[in-house]
Amino acid sequence: MSLYSSILRPLAFQLDPEKAHELGMTAISKGLICSPEIRDSRLSQTLFGVMFENPLGLAAGFDKNAIAVDHWHRLGFGSVEVGTITRYPQPGNPKPRLFRIPEEKALINRMGFNNDGCEAAAQRLSHSNPKTVIGINLGKSKVTELKDAPADYEASFRALLPYGAYFVINVSSPNTPGLRSLQEKGPLIDIIQAIQSVDSTKPLFVKIAPDLEFEAVDEVLQVAHDTKLTGLIATNTTIARDMLKYDPEETGGLSGFPVQKKANEILKHVSSHSSPELTVIGVGGIASGDDLWNKFTLGAHLCQAYTGFIYGGPMFTYTVLSQFVSRMDREGVKSISEIRQK
Ligand SMILES: Cc1cc2nc3c(=O)[nH]c(=O)nc-3n(C[C@H](O)[C@H](O)[C@H](O)COP(=O)(O)O)c2cc1C
Repeated sequence: MSLYSSILRPLAFQLDPEKAHELGMTAISKGLICSPEIRDSRLSQTLFGVMFENPLGLAAGFDKNAIAVDHWHRLGFGSVEVGTITRYPQPGNPKPRLFRIPEEKALINRMGFNNDGCEAAAQRLSHSNPKTVIGINLGKSKVTELKDAPADYEASFRALLPYGAYFVINVSSPNTPGLRSLQEKGPLIDIIQAIQSVDSTKPLFVKIAPDLEFEAVDEVLQVAHDTKLTGLIATNTTIARDMLKYDPEETGGLSGFPVQKKANEILKHVSSHSSPELTVIGVGGIASGDDLWNKFTLGAHLCQAYTGFIYGGPMFTYTVLSQFVSRMDREGVKSISEIRQK
């Protein structure tokens, strides 16, 4: 048992989840928390022109305001996706809006894109010096009508353009009314084209929900192909509850172990129905080296985690990546792409 799971996590879990998150973020942003690093050349990959030292990134929603970008490498993440950032600052939904379900190793959140807005994030990023890959996840401001979404995403993209190695159009959060309808072909093309009209060379991803039917995923894949998107991120949180032993009755997006199965089904569908040029980032329910391994066998190029980090603590990437490297040794695998072909 680690110090985190025996002492720190029980203490942190005494606190309100959002308070604990704020405290953790403050400590991380001051460089007070770090973990041992796993260095292994088999973990590094260059994808869409970007070098990733390892394939495990921190998923969007943790560092919403890009306050700790200079410190995430200390926690062993190969990349960090900041945001979701919206064009305008907004407070998000009323509290409480983040809930733990420890017996399911899960979280439910209905944060609603609380963030300082794109200008503040750009200001902060302009003074930062990150040592890990930074992706920037963009969302629609609550005050912006759905029909005006393209201009909203475009403005955020313009403000943040110099600071992201890649960008993500988030149209899959369940906590902004109507947002997920932007996953439909017409609205999605309009948003992508608005962003590409500013810069069509910047790597661009769309993050999708685990609750989409396969036909809807196929439509997104068609759009991705037609607009020459860099890739897809599968998946966001789920609104489903059927996999839980009991229904906690809180609305919002469910993450962690219970979303793993759905996220993996979508990941597999995406990677088996897309052209080889599309980069696929697998997210949802990663808590161990085997979970990470499975995402690659299903076709992921890169992976991200959020909830596993809450439950695993500062040793999370160390634990997951060392288990992963041991399995590479056991199976005699020399690269991540070899796992994808298994
Ligand atoms: C508290 C919380 C806030 C999140 N906020 C965002 C967000 O702002 N934007 C986003 O694209 N995803 C957000 N997510 C979703 C995660 O990035 C990830 O897609 C999802 O949680 C599944 O991964 P996991 O099972 O490893 O947590 C959030 C998740 C949690 C738990």
